[in-house]
Amino acid sequence: MSLVLDPAAQDLLFREARTANSFTDEPVGDEQLQAIYDLVKYGPTAFNQCPLRVTLVRSPEARERLVGHLAEGNRAKTAAAPLVAILSADNEFHEELPQLMPHAPQLKDAFFSERPVREGTAALNAALQAAYFIIGVRAAGLAAGPMTGLDFEGVRKEFLDDDHTPLMVVNIGRPGPDAAFPRSPRLAYEQVVTTV
Ligand SMILES: Cc1cc2nc3c(=O)[nH]c(=O)nc-3n(C[C@H](O)[C@H](O)[C@H](O)COP(=O)(O)O)c2cc1C
Repeated sequence: MSLVLDPAAQDLLFREARTANSFTDEPVGDEQLQAIYDLVKYGPTAFNQCPLRVTLVRSPEARERLVGHLAEGNRAKTAAAPLVAILSADNEFHEELPQLMPHAPQLKDAFFSERPVREGTAALNAALQAAYFIIGVRAAGLAAGPMTGLDFEGVRKEFLDDDHTPLMVVNIGRPGPDAAFPRSPRLAYEQVVTTV
């Protein structure tokens, strides 16, 4: 019989999991982040290109700089979150391809010699990895608060460089008591799925 994820684990990852807007004071350590990464790194990407990069914003000084680039409604909760990560796409991911595809190192030059091509595929695949990351945070018993309400160019200049495109900021921690509002509905299967 094939293994199926236990319904309680399905609840943890999806049915019961909420986007967190507040957190307890419990810290999130580097070893927890390492465990999350060591799980989600196995999520698939095209050509195994693995373009996601994660910048942990730990120091109070860096946190203040980041908060200044966020939309007003995202500031207070990010200032108070136990841990904050900037997720970005590495547009120079092809430099690592020989390590990531040891059986086909020639693909680096065959497919990815042009920057616009790399930017397009890195954006898609790093976004996929960001989704794996959010689910990985939940799998660790924590909650994630992803945000795109921010000045992307400001965040890029402040924390990254020309080779990295910020995707989102994610607050991470043990969820606080509040759920700001009830779970919003999702689209029904029939609204989403067509069969041809
Ligand atoms: C990529 C992404 C960007 C988001 N940006 C923001 C944001 O800037 N501010 C905010 O308060 N919530 C943001 N959210 C939270 C969503 O509104 C929330 O995940 C969605 O409504 C589902 O909520 P639930 O997980 O509680 O059901 C974002 C979520 C995602 C996945």
